Amino acid sequence: MSAVTDSIRQRASFLRGEIARHDRLYYVEARPEIGDADYDCLYRELETLERQHPELDDPDSPTRRVGGAPLENGFAPVRHDPPMMSLDKAHSKTELLDFDFFIRRQFPDFAPTYVVEPKVDGVAFSLLYRNGRLERAATRGNGEVGDDITANVRTIRSIPLTLPTAAAVVELRGEVFMPRQGFLDLIARQEAEGVEIFMNPRNAAAGSLKQLDSRVTATRPLDSMIYATGALEGVDFPTHQAFVDTLHAWGVKTLPWRRMCADIPEVFAAIDALEQQRHAFPFEIDGAVIKLADRTRYDALGATARSPRWARAYKYAPERTETVVTAITVQVGRTGVLTPVAELEPVLLAGSQISRATLHNADEIARKDIRIGDAVWIVKAGDVIPAIEAVLTEKRPRAATPFVMPDACPACNGPVVRLADEVALRCANPACPAQLVCRLDHMAGRDALDIERMGGVVADALVRRGLVATPFDLFRLKRDDLAVLDLGEAGKSRLFGPKNAERVLTAIEAARMLPLHRWLFALGIPQIGATVAEAVAACHARFSDLAASQLLRDVVGLYDALAEAQQSNPRGAANRKRDDAGRTELQHRFDAACARVENLGESLVAAGAARRAADASRPAKYTTTVKEEAARALVVFFESEAGRAAAATLAALGIDPVRAAASASASDGPLAGATVVITGTLSAPRQTIANRIKAAGGRVTDAVTSATTFLLAGYSLGGAKHNQALALGIPILSESDLEARLLAAPAPAPAPAPAVATAPRQGELF
Ligand code: IVH
Repeated sequence: MSAVTDSIRQRASFLRGEIARHDRLYYVEARPEIGDADYDCLYRELETLERQHPELDDPDSPTRRVGGAPLENGFAPVRHDPPMMSLDKAHSKTELLDFDFFIRRQFPDFAPTYVVEPKVDGVAFSLLYRNGRLERAATRGNGEVGDDITANVRTIRSIPLTLPTAAAVVELRGEVFMPRQGFLDLIARQEAEGVEIFMNPRNAAAGSLKQLDSRVTATRPLDSMIYATGALEGVDFPTHQAFVDTLHAWGVKTLPWRRMCADIPEVFAAIDALEQQRHAFPFEIDGAVIKLADRTRYDALGATARSPRWARAYKYAPERTETVVTAITVQVGRTGVLTPVAELEPVLLAGSQISRATLHNADEIARKDIRIGDAVWIVKAGDVIPAIEAVLTEKRPRAATPFVMPDACPACNGPVVRLADEVALRCANPACPAQLVCRLDHMAGRDALDIERMGGVVADALVRRGLVATPFDLFRLKRDDLAVLDLGEAGKSRLFGPKNAERVLTAIEAARMLPLHRWLFALGIPQIGATVAEAVAACHARFSDLAASQLLRDVVGLYDALAEAQQSNPRGAANRKRDDAGRTELQHRFDAACARVENLGESLVAAGAARRAADASRPAKYTTTVKEEAARALVVFFESEAGRAAAATLAALGIDPVRAAASASASDGPLAGATVVITGTLSAPRQTIANRIKAAGGRVTDAVTSATTFLLAGYSLGGAKHNQALALGIPILSESDLEARLLAAPAPAPAPAPAVATAPRQGELF
């Protein structure tokens, strides 16, 4: 280490300036002046100088973009002041006329002009620069409170670490996104590594920002654009154009497309032009944003509870795209159902790469007349699952071949049957390996026995190598068999390894002790989902009680008696025309059925498995904890060969799961008594978060009502639940708020509602 001379100091400062300038040229302006090798040379020289002279240390140095150790305690909460709002949607051009009309009415002597910009489909975020230095970056969270993601955001090279301004506070707001190509490269990498792949660029951007280790974020191709302001001190922008021009001069990335419009007809033309070009952008766009150009009027216009009155979002129709059906394959599911799947020439649709679409069943294929080789329109049904909308028959090649469902199972060659009143075909071989793989996968799932690393390829390999012939064989697996399990395909070998084997065996051992509801769900009985399994487990002490359960039979009996009472009701429409003798007989049947309803109902009430409605109707009304379909399915299952075999095998393995004790920790947990509704995209699967809420004593329900304690809001605000919560004054919490509560000492008193702006807040918009 040697003393720092002025010339060394100057050299370091020069290098930092140069690197920042080249970052800007490359990442912001897309017009690099030097090649990678020259850039690396500058960077390495700076790194060497900094290593030799630690006194030169400067957190704003470009070498300090990627941080050190991962965050240990998650992301710190950041309160947004002013809040980060959302945009009201204009669903049609008429609604944009209304928007214009509203603005003219507010300012009678003013001819409003507008800006139209793309609506970027990424993750909204905020950057806070204090005295020109990037101090903090945050996600929007629920708009009031977000997560501090500074370390991650610093790794995004299009974001300057310093701004050439003397302004005390500059808060910039915009979107972090993953460009399409970067997304495709990332999922190719993830696929090659065999890890779970992101669904679309927005999820990839959100997932990358949620990394606790910024070194991981640094490997993700993230980019950013700024389109609005938050808090400002010492600087002001009278118009949107002035704002954009200043950002440009500061080297901040703004949207690459923008139209200034003198009036609403020009706005219409701009949103049409943008729609034409939306696919040409290197990133996803889900609409246009129309903003009043004159920012000095923003304060006077104010905001509604969640959106400023000076802008509107105009969403484009859901995307559809054309591709070709290259083949139709058939998948065999857990219950043996054969599902035809269209294999497609890969295309990007609404942000995800699509190469397959479910065809549901043979009837659907026939109805749409889909043939192999056809050109088709695909759309995203409900914006998630791709589906074939229609065939472009005019493009049908002569060689296009109609598809015929196989008459043998494609996985095991077993017989295929069509059950009465079902459209689906099923493989009737209970030992079918494809079904077995699905059942194993299900059994290992998070809500079932939660055996990490057991799903997918591992389940497949276990079945292929004959190590597992029923899901219960998991409990007979040997360490050595697992360690040398070859997951490879086509001659390439990839061993599972001793460490993974050890982990799986530990998880399998732990699974023996899991409570009844998890096991019930794990068995994959038709109709028995995770919630139903909980209800069934709530009224049975242990698994071995289920096969002979009188309670389940009583539920079935109750619903049978109700049906009989309905049929024989003398006042029923169908029964009114009977003669006297017929009526008397009906009345007898009706009375008997009502008596049975009451008998069974009361015994269920006594067992704590039903509630009786307060009214005095005949037959009496009961709500049962275990619903009709579930009770029937369980009775059928435990009388079937498969059900008896499952019960016998578990008994032989010495496994008899018991009902989860209403755990003390849950009933006085930090969320005891809280009723929570979840909305938006969260950092983990919804079920995982729901489980944590339940473990802390809370209840998770679907609809926001006055009984809701709080709404847990993920990334996407503005849905029906969010509106309902605002309307009812229900507190809206971010994930970080939830974290804070989960860590809190048991104090179930609901916190007051966060200050959501319910009236326009002057001077506090952006
Ligand atoms: S300006 C009110 N301009 O779309 C917030 N927003 O619900 C700032 N968005 O989360 C409005 N592209 O963050 C604005 N060019 C753009 C935008 C944009 C995307 C986001 C915004 C908000 C969501 C609308």
